[in-house]
This record gives sequence, structure tokens and C-alpha cells, in this order.
Amino acid sequence: MNLANNITGKVVVITGASSGLGETTARLLASKGANVVLGARREENLIKITNEINSELNGKAVYLKTDVTKKDDVQALIEKAVSEFGKIDVLINNAGLMSIAPMDQLKIDEWESMIDINIKGVLYGIAATLPIFQKQESGHFINISSVAGIKIFSPGGTVYSGTKYAVRAISDGLRHEVGGKIRTTTIEPGAVDSELKYGSSHKESSDFVTDFYKNAIPSDSIARAIVYAIEQPADVDINEIVIRPTVQEF
Ligand SMILES: NC(=O)c1ccc[n+]([C@@H]2O[C@H](COP(=O)([O-])OP(=O)(O)OC[C@H]3O[C@@H](n4cnc5c(N)ncnc54)[C@H](OP(=O)(O)O)[C@@H]3O)[C@@H](O)[C@H]2O)c1
Repeated sequence: MNLANNITGKVVVITGASSGLGETTARLLASKGANVVLGARREENLIKITNEINSELNGKAVYLKTDVTKKDDVQALIEKAVSEFGKIDVLINNAGLMSIAPMDQLKIDEWESMIDINIKGVLYGIAATLPIFQKQESGHFINISSVAGIKIFSPGGTVYSGTKYAVRAISDGLRHEVGGKIRTTTIEPGAVDSELKYGSSHKESSDFVTDFYKNAIPSDSIARAIVYAIEQPADVDINEIVIRPTVQEF
């Protein structure tokens, strides 16, 4: 079997596609012939990435300015995929925020943002897409958790870890409930070079994160793993992939 054919023509919706591993995954999938639908808030980034994909790569790209904390935005993104391409094969719930600070700094606004983006954004994606997957009798959810969803990134990352534990729990529960014809993959990256490291307002934590990310691996390390999960035959569900820099202990 030519596994490359399992990417060509697939319709893949990616949230948080304006930078980092969402952007890199969109480009890699498009290079393999996927049609990609990009969502994020920074429209100027989405326009640039979409134009580059459409002029240089095999697949086709469209975008919709999307704030995943707004369920109507996420619904509109999914509807755009269906109206453009007639179906959805994969939803990559990737949009995320990492704001690191010790609990006693009481960064309540950042706690709320992480919960809204990292957890509720994922749920809105599932809610908008699951009825389509059930009707199609096929589909693939890929949810981006973290190694911080396996072990608590403390001190500082307690709430971030809480959101990523939630993504892992929701992903595996979803797999259990809707499996059969619908695939669910959870990806748990370690330190990956992206803009995520700039999400902390607490100076000492931000300095720690900058130092920690000196060992970060490139975002295409994750994009290749996502391609691997998607290109498997429909009866093979890659449930979980953990990817760390070789030197990373945590
Ligand atoms: N980098 C790592 O070391 C690492 C490790 C483990 C897990 N992860 C996870 O990987 C995912 C991608 O992160 P990244 O590393 O690629 O970081 P990134 O470069 O900061 O990308 C985050 C993406 O999320 C989008 N986003 C944030 N808030 C959003 C919102 N309200 N609505 C829509 N999009 C939103 C951003 O776009 P806009 O700002 O344009 O909206 C951006 O495209 C995240 O879930 C992150 O937690 C990353």
C-alpha cells in the first residue's frame, strides 16, 4: 500500500495554524497533497501561510480568522472546511497558550485564558466536528496535549499542566466513546521551538522557560508524527505519541 495516498486529498482543519507546530504541520501536510483549513486569530499570518501553500505546495489551503474561545468561530471554521471541500477528514486541535507562574502569583486572568483556549477550544472543536464525523462514518481527531499532560510541570506550570491533563483525558474518553470508525490521537510534545515560550508574564518563570527551551527541537519533529498518525490505514488508530528532545528529562 502507498501510504502517501492516505494524505493526498484529505481535508485537514488545523487550529492555531498561524505559527509554530500548527503552521509547520499545515505546510508539511499540504506538501503531501492535503487540503488544509487554517484557523487562528492573526489574520496576516494566515494570509501569508495560505498564499505560500497555494503557490508552492501540492495541496490547497484556505483560512478563516478564528478565536477558539468563541464557539461560533470554531463552528464557522468547520463549516468553511465543509463548504470548500465537501468533507473533513482530520481536525487538529492545536491552538494553545502556556503561561507559566507559581500558583501564589494568582495570575487568574492567565488561568482563565489557558482554560478557555487549551480546554474549551478543544471541546468546541470536537462539538463542531463530531456530528460530521458520525455522519461520514469516518474522521480523525488529533489533540495536542504535552509532556506537561503526563507529569505536572511544577512549580509554575501547574495550571498549564491541568489543561494538558484535561486534553489527554478528553481525548482518550472521546476515543473510548466514539471509536469504531472515528480515530483519536493525542500528541504529547516536549520542548519544541515555537512562540509558545513567550506566553508567560511572570519574569522569573519566563527566564526559566527561555533556558529550558535551549534544548527545544524543531516543530517539524511534531509535524512528521502527525503525518504518521494520519497516513495509517483507516483501521489503525495511533492513540498516543510522546516526543521529547533526546536530552530532555522532564
Ligand atoms: N512548543 C512546545 O514546546 C509545546 C510542547 C507541548 C505542547 N505544545 C502545544 O502545541 C500547541 C501549539 O503550540 P506551539 O508550540 O506551536 O506555539 P505557538 O507558536 O505559540 O502557537 C500557538 C498557536 O495557537 C494559536 N492560538 C492561541 N490562542 C488562540 C485563540 N484564542 N484562538 C485561536 N488560536 C489561538 C496561536 O495563533 P494566534 O495567536 O494567531 O491566534 C498560534 O497559532 C499548543 O497547544 C501547545 O500547548 C507545545
